Amino acid sequence: MASPMVQDFTTPVIRNVDLGRGNWLLEFQAESAAREMRPAQFFMIGVPGSDVLLRRPFSVCGLPGTFSDGSQGAVQVLYRVYGRGTKLLSSLGPGAPLHILGPLGRGFTSPPEKTTKIVLVAGGIGCAPFPAFISELQREGRRATMIYGARSAGELPLLDWFRERCDEVVVTTDDGSLGARGLVTAPVEARLEARGQNPLHLYVCGPTPMLKAVAKRALAAGVVCDLALEAPMACGFGVCLGCVVPTHERPDGPVAFERVCVEGPVMRAERMAW
Ligand SMILES: Cc1cc2nc3c(=O)[nH]c(=O)nc-3n(C[C@H](O)[C@H](O)[C@H](O)COP(=O)(O)OP(=O)(O)OC[C@H]3O[C@@H](n4cnc5c(N)ncnc54)[C@H](O)[C@@H]3O)c2cc1C
Ligand code: FES
Repeated sequence: MASPMVQDFTTPVIRNVDLGRGNWLLEFQAESAAREMRPAQFFMIGVPGSDVLLRRPFSVCGLPGTFSDGSQGAVQVLYRVYGRGTKLLSSLGPGAPLHILGPLGRGFTSPPEKTTKIVLVAGGIGCAPFPAFISELQREGRRATMIYGARSAGELPLLDWFRERCDEVVVTTDDGSLGARGLVTAPVEARLEARGQNPLHLYVCGPTPMLKAVAKRALAAGVVCDLALEAPMACGFGVCLGCVVPTHERPDGPVAFERVCVEGPVMRAERMAW
């Protein structure tokens, strides 16, 4: 779905909660931007007056109604501290101003056919867009299965939240500290094999190697697969071309380049010319 009216605004932090292991949940007031937003769309977020000049992209994690304690018009962003921008964000307390641009990009859309089985695949902090999506599915009277992988047990933020709201959450960790030892691809393959004649739709968000591995298996099985892509972003609105990825209309067709910030971040697996 195309982005609704993009807004550029300054708004205070409502709360910025340390979830442990470098994961934080930031809440801010977004008013009409929150009402128009789709799961997996994103905001560019900066801190006015700081020496981190470029805003950074973050998926919307919670839209109004996703987390029961979220106030009207407030949205939440789940982020992991990596470098200067996210370290600065984690230092902010309630009332600190944020410089926001959004909503941006194209988000997830639930399958039109109600009998389609929905499988969400998340790698670590790639779980960020799924709370908003799961809440939307709940409002439609639908539930999903989630396959949630990370390097180790401490890197699975909001795991209990997902367990309460999904039919099933299958956990994998690289080190075997929780769930099955290994990658998300093994339970993905199991779901693809077990689906029989039933339609299935995969929604995937996480590191690019994980997206590629899941996309490959989905394509081989002929299953619809939406990928929430990550790319370096300077502008977030289609001008700098820093975020382009190779795509094609058909596997043997010519390769074009599309902008993750405008044509994505959600793209169909078959469009990718990786
Ligand atoms: C559409 C979109 C949505 C996103 N949504 C989220 C989200 O909801 N939550 C979230 O935490 N992140 C999200 N990201 C990633 C997030 O934008 C980056 O983590 C952030 O820009 C890092 O900024 P920084 O200044 O802290 O790090 P930088 O100073 O820019 O980078 C510091 C170091 O960390 C590495 N690094 C930066 N980002 C990542 C990363 N994501 N994975 C691995 N290494 C990295 C860099 O290569 C560099 O070595 C999203 C990215 C995109 C494109
Ligand atoms: S981030 Fe500038 S074109 Fe996409």
